[in-house]
Amino acid sequence: MRLDKYAAFAAESRKEIKKLITKGFVTVNGTVIRDCGYDVGDSDEIFCRGKRVVYKKYIYIMMNKPPGVVSATEDNVNPTVTDLLPDEFKRFKPFPVGRLDIDTEGLILMTNDGVAAHKLLSPRYKVPKKYYAKVDGDITKEDIEKFSVGIVLHDGYKTLPAKLCPLPDGRSAFVTIAEGKFHQIKRMFADCGKHVMFLKRVEFAGLCLDETLKNGECRLLKDEEIQILESIMQ
Ligand code: URA
Repeated sequence: MRLDKYAAFAAESRKEIKKLITKGFVTVNGTVIRDCGYDVGDSDEIFCRGKRVVYKKYIYIMMNKPPGVVSATEDNVNPTVTDLLPDEFKRFKPFPVGRLDIDTEGLILMTNDGVAAHKLLSPRYKVPKKYYAKVDGDITKEDIEKFSVGIVLHDGYKTLPAKLCPLPDGRSAFVTIAEGKFHQIKRMFADCGKHVMFLKRVEFAGLCLDETLKNGECRLLKDEEIQILESIMQ
């Protein structure tokens, strides 16, 4: 593999890593290599500015999706989550794992690992998703009961049991579902006669939204977070 590709994670952008290589900041097995196309493999020890570089094929990103942005890689009308990625992540061609509505905020995972994405979206794994929702009416005991047994939506689909935990104001709640049907939470509340005014995903597949990420910001998953994902896909 080309040295500039292998060492890509060590710099902000492809341009930047090329600069570092040509300026002599990169060594392969202790020798400075200034050729970006130099062929390297897993048995080579590569350092950039004195730090060991470990090649990563897959990238896992947590984004705090803002409203007004589409969970897709391309859209003709609205900005997409991909547009919000910094260049150093974009070049790995990540895509969103599942969808949030355009007006829904919060945790969206992006990766270029197709196998992991497929598993995380598969109904077989019943991947939990937790949302914070604000609705236009008081949440009742009957609503909690309906969510807990599953709700038959307009298209005839019966949802899996979901957990509805109202907050002290009575009009907001945490909702945990184990599937991801189109507009699922909005449709479940609609069945209870309530309109969702605000929806934010706070957890996905055992990962908690990093509250230090402002709307539209993202970061790579930490190793321990990748392990959480792996454990859920067992
Ligand atoms: N349920 C919804 O209704 N919308 C979302 O974006 C996610 C879950």
